[in-house]
Amino acid sequence: MATVTYDQATRVYPGSEKPAVDKLDIEIEDGEFLVLVGPSGCGKSTSLRMLAGLEDVNGGSIRIGDRDVTHLPPKDRDIAMVFQNYALYPHMTVADNMGFALKIAGVPKPEIRQKVEDAAKILDLTEYLGRKPKALSGGQRQRVAMGRAIVREPQVFLMDEPLSNLDAKLRVQTRTQIAGLQRRLGITTVYVTHDQVEAMTMGDRVAVLKDGLLQQVDTPRRMYDRPANLFVAGFIGSPAMNLVEVPIADGGVKFGNSVVPVEREALATAADKGDTTVTVGVRPEHFGLANGDGTAVSKDEPAGIAVTVNVVEELGADGYIYGSAKVGGREHDIVVRVPGREVPEKGSVVHVVPRGGETHVFSTSTGERLSD
Ligand SMILES: Nc1ncnc2c1ncn2[C@@H]1O[C@H](COP(=O)(O)OP(=O)(O)OP(=O)(O)O)[C@@H](O)[C@H]1O
Ligand SMILES: [Mg+2]
Repeated sequence: MATVTYDQATRVYPGSEKPAVDKLDIEIEDGEFLVLVGPSGCGKSTSLRMLAGLEDVNGGSIRIGDRDVTHLPPKDRDIAMVFQNYALYPHMTVADNMGFALKIAGVPKPEIRQKVEDAAKILDLTEYLGRKPKALSGGQRQRVAMGRAIVREPQVFLMDEPLSNLDAKLRVQTRTQIAGLQRRLGITTVYVTHDQVEAMTMGDRVAVLKDGLLQQVDTPRRMYDRPANLFVAGFIGSPAMNLVEVPIADGGVKFGNSVVPVEREALATAADKGDTTVTVGVRPEHFGLANGDGTAVSKDEPAGIAVTVNVVEELGADGYIYGSAKVGGREHDIVVRVPGREVPEKGSVVHVVPRGGETHVFSTSTGERLSD
């Protein structure tokens, strides 16, 4: 087992001026499950491949434990990688597929068999060891690919979108299995996905990348509760956080009919930059419904904005309304979570206000978080 350190690690592809990964700094703890997430092309695979030794590092360094591996060949790094297309050998049995790397390394046959059987037990593959990959389901093949990595007992697992070939239901099952397995084995793991739900449910910590730049590394809870900037705020969470640009008012921000109190320091910082507006973020579950006539429900919750309901999504326990509202002089799409038994009708107008203390304030000009 080992820690993994990206220290200002940079990758510039030949023929490109802009780094695909720009001065990446992450310290991954021993045994940690770290997820790299971000939109397509943000540099996730490149970051992983730099750690694997499949991509040159053009600046900075990468360490596994105390070893500087920046310029070591892949085979000397003591890592095992699971790719998106698991690339199983079709003519080999599951057992041979799983043991192949050990065979190449010259490990004695009985030892290989023992390791393959142990891994098969962990992965629930024992009864399939004699089969060829084509006689397996997608999920089973995925587990064989995992098995191939496990038998090598590496210091670090690297996984690049290993679930993207599976259908939605199997993906949910398998992500729980992988996360559980990783916890049991305790092997430091770096896992790449573009799916923020997968990132949030699997990772001990999540690292969000955009355009080759690290935006934030945090636990899923912290990432959700305290996104560091507008990009992370909009990227993490489903349905996404409502983000609206609103004028700064005395003691707060003007949110429709109401002045919603926000931290003074946040507004002072915005004013220092010369901004007259801030961008306020409210998660769908952090809106409260005001009374029908728009009066306050309580003193703490002044009446806010009038949302015209365009689409209603009923999920049983709760529901989401997708509507539009005029805030800060502009029409905005607004998503509000409501209790399952109080879902308003399509076409109706509801008045909503952000619950006290549940707003996020960002600089409109720089996107950085201003509130605590
Ligand atoms: N071999 C290469 N040569 C030149 N540019 C590359 C190469 N591989 C990737 N890139 C570029 O580097 C950037 C990062 O690519 P990367 O594959 O790391 O993205 P990603 O986050 O894994 O995206 P996806 O979610 O689509 O897999 C992209 O702009 C991509 O076009
Ligand atoms: Mg990729």
